[in-house]
Amino acid sequence: MPMNSDIDLLVITESEVPSQTQEALLNETYPLYLECGRQISPQFWSARKFDQPPTEKEEALRQRVLGDGKILLSRVQLPPSPIPTLRTIELTPEDEPLLQRFFEENPEYFVAAYGEPPGPQEAHAAIHDELPAGWSFTKKWLVGYVDEAGSLVAMANVVTDLLAKDVWHIGLFIVATARHGTGDAQALHEGIERWARDNGAKWLRLGVVRGNARAERYWESLGYIQTRTREGMQMGKLTNTVRVMVKPLAGGAIEEFLSLVPRDRPEVPRALEGKPSVTSDIRANVAQYYDLNPEVPADVGFYTALVPSPEASILELGCGTGRVLLPLAQRCGYVQGIDLSEAMLAVCRDKLRQANIPVTKAHVAVGDICDFVLGRTFDLIIAPYRVLQNLETDSQLHGLFRCLHTHLSSGGTCVLNVFRPKWDAEKLRRDWVTNQETFCWQVAVEGGRVTCHDRRSHIAPDPLILYPELIWRRYRHEALVDEAVLRIPMRCYYPDEFSRLIANHGFRIIDRWGGYAGEAYGVGPELVLRFQRTA
Ligand SMILES: C[S@@+](CC[C@H](N)C(=O)[O-])C[C@H]1O[C@@H](n2cnc3c(N)ncnc32)[C@H](O)[C@@H]1O
Repeated sequence: MPMNSDIDLLVITESEVPSQTQEALLNETYPLYLECGRQISPQFWSARKFDQPPTEKEEALRQRVLGDGKILLSRVQLPPSPIPTLRTIELTPEDEPLLQRFFEENPEYFVAAYGEPPGPQEAHAAIHDELPAGWSFTKKWLVGYVDEAGSLVAMANVVTDLLAKDVWHIGLFIVATARHGTGDAQALHEGIERWARDNGAKWLRLGVVRGNARAERYWESLGYIQTRTREGMQMGKLTNTVRVMVKPLAGGAIEEFLSLVPRDRPEVPRALEGKPSVTSDIRANVAQYYDLNPEVPADVGFYTALVPSPEASILELGCGTGRVLLPLAQRCGYVQGIDLSEAMLAVCRDKLRQANIPVTKAHVAVGDICDFVLGRTFDLIIAPYRVLQNLETDSQLHGLFRCLHTHLSSGGTCVLNVFRPKWDAEKLRRDWVTNQETFCWQVAVEGGRVTCHDRRSHIAPDPLILYPELIWRRYRHEALVDEAVLRIPMRCYYPDEFSRLIANHGFRIIDRWGGYAGEAYGVGPELVLRFQRTA
């Protein structure tokens, strides 16, 4: 194997190196970094030349690597400094005091992420801490940027090939506070990006603490895209939500990154996971017919016009098959959908896949809108097509409004909709139940047709809840091949009652509509309210 002084990383897979080669290597005086297939921190080797006596750890490594096999060489060099007055150095254990001083003089990152200034062992930890067991990588670089007076003015910890080949992870990137706003941080990041790209990296990855607004804005402005969040991360005095973000360097789609690093896939929020069971999915047999309904309100334009900005985050409660969620995904930064019905969501996921909408843009999960925790807030929360009316009890309603309070951002708005009953409550109680089937609609489908009827067999008087049964039938030619029935609660609200419901739960109504064609509230067929948190 070639032995050149420009080799700076040597990865040796355990038990795969001929013993003579191993001997030769360990006798070399070049600053080689050795890494054994498992977790041996490479910069540990950078601290010394091989002609010095081995430490205990090195000795252990030497004993493990004897054998035959593969040797991988990486020729990644220290990045050049993109700022002419600075030079780069590799921070080694000898630089611990320099790094510690730098951390102490620039504590902002630690205060924001840990809720406290750097501890006395901060530099030691940055240099010596190993990556979590089982995480693959080729080298952990600690790059220092030093000015002409020899002071450290910035540092970056970059792990190459973390979790997958060509994924480079920026662990820490701190620029001296005095240089904030000068453009140096951008220039240094550009240098790292160029260095990574020149060495074959296809992705840059990092984690940013939610709430560290300066850092969030900075990484977003550089083109990083969130893939998932990790909640409940204990960091110093704080329990943080960390946003995992990636930037493609070779034009790849985020889906490609996620197939390389599946652990970064957006997760089903813990609070939703496994809550409602599939067996209780009352829409299991009817979801297939939902999108055939020609009588849904013409509300898609109304909801898409509510998106406050192309970066906005939206939560759709009871998103069903994605009738509104898909058009929203084209116009906002991120949309999260929740629905009780796995069958409805299966249709929605299919549509998202076919439309090539990545999970970083739209994500749907099984959940109950009366009881969910997503660990984040949204700019807009909606529940189109009368979803609210499916909640029968006051305790469900209280649950929903509690969730709205915790998931609506301070300037965010929420829009809820119910239909306006055509009859007064007394007439409804008296005349609504018919027990006969009423024809609703019929559509042609391949090889036949689907019909929908409703049956009105039960009403609860107070609170006033209708229990219509919807019956879908599919015919192949004239033969009936499927019949599916859905019985749903539709709790009724009159205009004042609906406004009071919102106001009584601590929200301020800011708009009201009577339908999607400009009808006045209390006149048109729908009741639509837009509101904000009062506090
Ligand atoms: C009439 S569909 C509306 C679907 C979609 N919003 C639309 O506009 O096409 C009502 C949806 O609300 C969902 N849903 C009803 N109650 C729910 C609850 N407690 N939690 C989550 N989803 C619920 C149903 O599963 C169904 O998909």
